[in-house]
Amino acid sequence: MIVLSFVTPQPFLYAHYVTQNGVPYLKTWEYLSKDGRPIKVRPAQRGDAQYLHEGFKEVVDEGRWLPTFSVNANITDWVHWIEKTNHSREILLIAFLDDDYAGHLTLQPEEWNASQHVAKLGIIVRKPCRYLGVGRSLMLASEEIGLEKDYTKIILSTFEDNTIAIDLYKQLGYRLVGVRKKHFNMPNGFIDEVLMEKELIGQ
Ligand SMILES: CC(C)(COP(=O)(O)OP(=O)(O)OC[C@H]1O[C@@H](n2cnc3c(N)ncnc32)[C@H](O)[C@@H]1OP(=O)(O)O)[C@@H](O)C(=O)NCCC(=O)NCCS
Repeated sequence: MIVLSFVTPQPFLYAHYVTQNGVPYLKTWEYLSKDGRPIKVRPAQRGDAQYLHEGFKEVVDEGRWLPTFSVNANITDWVHWIEKTNHSREILLIAFLDDDYAGHLTLQPEEWNASQHVAKLGIIVRKPCRYLGVGRSLMLASEEIGLEKDYTKIILSTFEDNTIAIDLYKQLGYRLVGVRKKHFNMPNGFIDEVLMEKELIGQ
C-alpha cells in the first residue's frame, strides 16, 4: 500500500490517496486541531457503521441540536447507507481526532431533477470533541468532495439558537437565506429554523 500526498492551498491541510496496486481508492484529508492533534477526515467505510450509529445517537440524546427525538436507524441501516455512497452521489465523511471517532458529515442530493447540483448537508461532532476544529475540517473536506461529485452548491439548516454552528457556517462563507419562524416544536418550546447556503464556484 502506497500513500500519495499533496499539499492543498488551505493551511494545515493535506489530502492524500491510499493506493492499492497503484489505484487510488481512499482519499483522506488531514488537519490540525486547535490543541495540535491530528484530525483525519475520509469517506466512511463499512466498518465505521457502529461509530456513526453511536455518534448520532449521542447527539440525539442531548436533545438540543437536532429535530429528531429518537433514533430509528440501526447499525445495519448505517452499513447500507455507507455502501450506497459507493455507487451514488451521496457522501458520508467521518472524522477522527487522535485516531478516535469524532464526528461525521453527510451530503445528499436535492430530490428535484433541476436541483441535482445542490447538496443538503448534515453534520455532528461528538460533545467531547467540539470547539477543536473537527466541524470545520469536515466542512472543508465536504466542499472538495462535493465538487468532485458535481455539486456546486451546499444548503443546510439549523436551530436559531445554535450559535456555534451558525458562526462556523458564516466563517466558511455560508450566507443566511431565510428564517422559518417556529418551525420546530421542541420539548422546550417552538424554535426558528435558520436556512443557509454556499455556492462552491463562481463566488
Ligand atoms: C456545530 C458543530 C458541528 C460544530 O463542530 P465543532 O467541531 O465544535 O466546530 P469547530 O471547532 O470546527 O468550529 C467551531 C466554531 O464555532 C465557533 N465557536 C466555537 N466555540 C464557540 C462557543 N463557545 N460559542 C460560540 N461559538 C463558538 C467559532 O466560530 C469556531 O470557529 P473558530 O474556531 O474558527 O473560532 C458541533 O458543535 C456539533 O456537532 N453540535 C451538535 C450537533 C449540531 O448542532 N449539528 C449541526 C446541526 S445543523
